[in-house]
Amino acid sequence: MKNYLVLLLFLGIAMASFSCSDDNEDMTPAPAPNLYERLGGINAITAVVDQFLANVVADDVINARFAPTVADPFRTQLLRNNLIDQICAGSGGPCQYKGKNMLEAHQGMQITEVEFNALVADLIAALDQFNVPEQEKNDLLAILGPMKTDIVGQ
Ligand code: HEM
Repeated sequence: MKNYLVLLLFLGIAMASFSCSDDNEDMTPAPAPNLYERLGGINAITAVVDQFLANVVADDVINARFAPTVADPFRTQLLRNNLIDQICAGSGGPCQYKGKNMLEAHQGMQITEVEFNALVADLIAALDQFNVPEQEKNDLLAILGPMKTDIVGQ
C-alpha cells in the first residue's frame, strides 16, 4: 500500500512537470512582435493606405497637389504601391521600398508645413478609421515624422 502511494505521488509530480512544459523549451522569451506585425501585416497596411489616399483626395488643403496623379491610373497605382512598400519596409516588414527618396520625390514642390500637417492628419484619420491603437499610431508617425525636413520647403 505504501509503495502504491509513493508511485502515485511520483506519477503526479511527473505529470505536473509535463503539463508545465511548453514549446518554449529553452525558456528564452518569444521576440516581441515588430511594428509591421502589430499593425496587422500587409493587408492591414494596404487598407490603411487606400483609406489614406481617399482622405487625401477629399482634402481641399492638398488635393490639388495630387490632381495629375489621380488623373493617371498608372501613376495612382505607383504611388499606392510605393506608400505600401514604404510603410511595410519602415515598420520592419518583408517589403522593399523601390521609389525615390523623400528629398528627390518632393524636390521643387515647395510643400508648406500646413500641407505637411494636413497630409499627416489624413493619415491619422485613416489609422483611426481602422481603429489602429495609439501605440502603433505613434510608432508609425515616429518613423514618418523625421522625413519632414526632406519634404517641406524643398
Ligand atoms: C510623411 C509625409 C510624406 C510621405 C511619407 C510621402 C511619401 C511619398 C512617396 C513614397 C512618394 C512616391 C515617390 C516616388 O514616386 O518614387 C511621394 C510622392 C509625392 N508626394 Fe509625398 N509624401 C509625404 C508628404 C507629402 C506632402 C505633404 C505632399 C503635398 C501636400 C506630397 C506630395 C507628393 C506628390 C505630389 C508626389 C508625386 C506623386 C506622383 O508621382 O504622381 N507628399 N510621396
